[in-house]
Amino acid sequence: MVFDFFFKREPVILPFFTDIHCHVVPGVDDGSPDAATSGMLLERMHGLGIMRVFTSPHVTQDTFENTPETLAGPLGELHNEIQRRKIPIKLYLHAEYRLDEFFIQQKNAGNLTPLPGNLLLVENSFAQEPYNLDNVLFDLRLSDYTPILAHPERYKYYSESHRERYRQLHDSGVLFQINLLSLAGRYGRAERSMALELLESGMADFIGTDIHRESHVKLIEDYLASRTFRQDRKLMTNLRNDEI
Ligand SMILES: [Fe+2]
Repeated sequence: MVFDFFFKREPVILPFFTDIHCHVVPGVDDGSPDAATSGMLLERMHGLGIMRVFTSPHVTQDTFENTPETLAGPLGELHNEIQRRKIPIKLYLHAEYRLDEFFIQQKNAGNLTPLPGNLLLVENSFAQEPYNLDNVLFDLRLSDYTPILAHPERYKYYSESHRERYRQLHDSGVLFQINLLSLAGRYGRAERSMALELLESGMADFIGTDIHRESHVKLIEDYLASRTFRQDRKLMTNLRNDEI
């Protein structure tokens, strides 16, 4: 049919091809439980336009005390699954470090796995700003790491009552990574509008997917097909995702 020809739409993809935040290493955190699920998630992520994945298992005191040693086996399984399915994605490992006591121990033991360029993905607790945050961040920079704060739009103690902290932290050299899932509405209106504000103000250096499971990919696929995304993507011009 001639109309089909004229109206056939190219699939909409993301305006970047590198994801620095997702939980696809099987069985090591609250993300993918097994290699088959991870393979499915990566295939769907490839459909979104993702070609390079820096996967970021949680490293959190008491709940997910992952180290390079505990992650090596599951990462190998994931590489095998990618090969078996012939998924054209390059996969690398780093981590999403909660700023807690376990993190300090791991840092002192020389056990951190940063992104290339010594960029280090860190997250705050959702309940409150970590004790001594400024000192911890300063200390990281002294050790030649550049911290990237994961999903700053999700910390309500900033967005609801201390918005000035965003500018302070960013000016002090902390980079920000907002979640694609925030823009897609996963956590609520406030998180979406805070993420947009960070994009508009130029403070959002990276967008990460933070995909843990199939429902997250589905939500992103729906978002990409929406008018909302067509508007939002105009703000996604200065991201550093693909420079890594
Ligand atoms: Fe995460």
